[in-house]
Amino acid sequence: MKRLTTLLFSAAFSFAVSAQPQLTEKNISKVISVMTLEEKAELLVGSIEGMNYTGVPMPTGNEEGYQRVPGAGGQTNTVPRLGIPPTVVADGPAGLRISPHRDGEDRSYYCTGFPVEILLASTWDTGIVQEVGKAMGKETLEYGVDVILGPATNIMRNPLCGRNFEYYSEDPVLAGKMTAAMVNGVQSQGVGTSVKHFAANNQETNREMNDSRVSQRALREIYLKPFEIAVRQAQPWTIMSAYNKVNGEHAQSDYDLLTRILRDDWGFKGVVMTDWTAPRESEKQIHAGSDLLMPGRREQIDRIVEAVSEGSLSMKDVDTSVERILQYIVKTPRFRDYKYSDQPDLNSHAAVSRKAAEEGVVLLKNNGVLPLRPCDAALFGIQSYDFLHDGIGSGHVNTPYVVNMLDALKSQGFSCNEPLAEAYRLHIQAEKAKWGFHPMSSWPLMENIGVGAPVHEVEFPDYVYSTTAQQSDLAIVTLGRKPGEGFDRSVEDDFNLSDIELHLLKGVCDAFHAAGKKVVVILNVGGVVETSSWKEWPDAIMLPWMPGQEGGNVVADVLTGKVNPSGRLPVTFPIRYEDVPGADDYPTSFGKGDRFDIVSKLTDLYRSDGNTRNFDYTEYSEGIYVGYRHYMTRGVEVSYPFGFGLSYTSFSYGEPSVKRKGDNYIAAIKVTNTGEVSGREVIQLYVSAPAGGMDKPERELKAFAKTRELAPGESQYIQMTFNSYDLASFDEGTSAFITDKGTYTARFCTDVRTERAMVGFVVPTAKSYPVSRIN
Ligand code: BGC
Repeated sequence: MKRLTTLLFSAAFSFAVSAQPQLTEKNISKVISVMTLEEKAELLVGSIEGMNYTGVPMPTGNEEGYQRVPGAGGQTNTVPRLGIPPTVVADGPAGLRISPHRDGEDRSYYCTGFPVEILLASTWDTGIVQEVGKAMGKETLEYGVDVILGPATNIMRNPLCGRNFEYYSEDPVLAGKMTAAMVNGVQSQGVGTSVKHFAANNQETNREMNDSRVSQRALREIYLKPFEIAVRQAQPWTIMSAYNKVNGEHAQSDYDLLTRILRDDWGFKGVVMTDWTAPRESEKQIHAGSDLLMPGRREQIDRIVEAVSEGSLSMKDVDTSVERILQYIVKTPRFRDYKYSDQPDLNSHAAVSRKAAEEGVVLLKNNGVLPLRPCDAALFGIQSYDFLHDGIGSGHVNTPYVVNMLDALKSQGFSCNEPLAEAYRLHIQAEKAKWGFHPMSSWPLMENIGVGAPVHEVEFPDYVYSTTAQQSDLAIVTLGRKPGEGFDRSVEDDFNLSDIELHLLKGVCDAFHAAGKKVVVILNVGGVVETSSWKEWPDAIMLPWMPGQEGGNVVADVLTGKVNPSGRLPVTFPIRYEDVPGADDYPTSFGKGDRFDIVSKLTDLYRSDGNTRNFDYTEYSEGIYVGYRHYMTRGVEVSYPFGFGLSYTSFSYGEPSVKRKGDNYIAAIKVTNTGEVSGREVIQLYVSAPAGGMDKPERELKAFAKTRELAPGESQYIQMTFNSYDLASFDEGTSAFITDKGTYTARFCTDVRTERAMVGFVVPTAKSYPVSRIN
C-alpha cells in the first residue's frame, strides 16, 4: 500500500513539474508569467558562500553557503521548478580568480596569471588583447564559470589610485578600445564579461560612500567614454555598477546612469550587477536599472517582495530586470549544460600570457646598454627574487607559478652574483617568517586575494656595492610596488621612492659606474612612480609593470633582445606628484606610506565626520583636463609623456594623409623600419580641433595602430579610421556631442609630444549628437 501511494504521488508530482514551463530561449515571457514574486525577487539577488551570513535560508533550491565553483565571486539563484539553473561569476581582470585548492582533493585548480590591464594597454595592440581575452574566456568556460568579472575600465585619474593596475589608461579612447577587444575575446568563447566599475570609481579611499563630483562634460567625454565604446563595439553580457556615488547619487541607484545613459543613449542590452556591497535601498537599485544585487542577502529578497507589496517598487520594474537576467541565463554554458573539463590548457595560455606581456614592456631609457649579452649580473632589489605578477584584491589570480628574474636570467645563460642572492634569500625568508604574527594573517581570504608577506627593501653597507661591482659585469636593480583594492597609494614611500630605495639605487650606480660597469633598473610596479629625480643615475630603465606569471621570462626576453620592446605608456609619468591635475583633489592624507601596512590604511577608512573632502566627496576640479590633456594644453613638463616607449630599432614615416568618406575619416601613412633589427612601431594619431569652437585640449588621441613585426628595411602602410562623432566634444548647454566644422590637424606621433608627420583635414559641416539631459 505504501509503495502504491509513493508511486501515485511521484506520478502526480512529475505531471505537476512537466506542466510547468521549463526555461528556453523562446519562452522567457511565459516563464516570467508563472513566476511567483518571491521567485522573481530571488533571481534579482545573488548568493555567495560566506557573504550570506544572515543565517536565513534562501527560499527554494538555493542552499546557502554552497558554492558550485569554490572561490568564485558569486552566483545567481536557481528556480528549479522552472528549469532556471544557477550561474557562476568569478573575478577578474588579470585571469580567473577561483580557489586553487578544494577540501578533500589532491589536485589543484590554478588559473593562468595574465598581465595586468595597465600592461595590456601598453601593448597598444587590440589583437593581442583579444587573444588574451580568448584564453581567459576558455579558462572561464572550462572551470565552470559563466561570467568573468572584468575587464575594469575606470580612467586613471590620479597615479595614487590603488587599482590603476586593474585599469587600462588615462585616455578614454585607448581604454575603450582595449575594453572592447577584451570583451570580444572573452565572449567569443561563449561566456560573459562584466565591464566595471560603472562609473567614476577613481579612488579606493572610502570607495563605498565617496561622492565623485564631476561635470557632465568630463563624465561624458572622459569617465563614461570607455564604457560607451565597449558597449557600442562589444555589447558585454553584463556591466558592474560601482560602489561610489556620482554627483550625490550612488551609481548603483542612479536611473540616469543605468537606464537613460547606458541603455537609452548607448543601447546596452545586458544585465547590470552591483559591485559587492551590503544591502542598500534595493527598490531604488532595481528601479534605477541594477538588475542583480551582489553578492546578495536574504534580506534584500524580502525587501523586494515587501516593496512590491507596498507599491514602492513596480512589478514592471521587477519583470524588466527578471527578463534581462533570464536573457542572460539562456546564453550561459550552465544553461546549455556544458560539460566543463576543469582542465583548461594552462600551457598554451601561459604562452599567450608571455607573448602579450612581452608586447607591453615599456623601455623608458637605454644608454646603449641594452640588449644584453649573457654575463654575470648582480641582482639587487627584493623583486629580483620575488617577482610580482599582479596586485592585491579581487584582481589577484592564483597562478600555478610565477617565474622570478633570477631563474629566468639563469635559464638564458646569465650567472648571478651568488653571495648577493643568498643575502636576499635570507632577508626575504626572515621577513616572511614575521608574517605569521601579522595581525592580518587571520584574514581567511588572504591567499585568495594575493596579500603576501611584507618584505621591505634593504640597503647594504657601501662595501657590498663596491665588492659586487668588482665581482659582477653588470647590476640589475628591481624596484617593486604591490598596490591593491581597498586602499590608495601614498605620495611618500610609494609614488616617491623610499629613502632606502634611493640609497640602494645610488649606492649601486656609484659603485658600478666607478668600476666602469652598467646598471639597469626594472620597475615591477602596478602604477606610476616618480622617476625624474633618479632617472639620470642608471643606464637603462625598463618597465614590465606586473606582467603575469611568466614575469621573469618576459623581462629576460626583452633584456636580451630576444624580444624588441614595443610597449608604450598608457599613462603619463609626471615629474612631481604636485604636477598631477587636481593633485589636491585626491586622498593623499589617508593611510600611511608603508605599502604593506594595510591595517592602518583600512583603519583610516573609518575616520570620517561625513563631510570630509577627498574622503566623503571628491571634486574632479580638473574637469576634462585629465593626464596628457592637462600637461600638453598647459605646457607642463613631464618625466615620460603619454605614449612614450623606446625600441631597439628606429622607424621613418612617409607622407601622411587623411581622406574623408562620408562621416568617416581615414588617416594613412607608410612606416619603415630603418634600424638593424626587426621590431614593431605604434602610430598614435592625435587631433587638434580648429580654433574658435569649444574649449578643447590642445590635442586628443583619436586612433592608433601597431605595425606587424617589420624586418630591417621593411615598410607597412598603416590606415586608421575615425568618424565625425569621435571628433565631438560634449556641450552641456544643449546636452549634445558637437563636432565643429573647420580645419583640424592630424598629428602622427610616437608619443603625445613627438610628432613625426602632420596633415590638415576639413570637416565640412558641423554636427550635433543629442543625448539624454542629466542635471
Ligand atoms: C570589487 C570588484 C569585484 C568584486 C567581487 C569587489 O570588491 O570591487 O571588482 O569584482 O569585489 O570579487
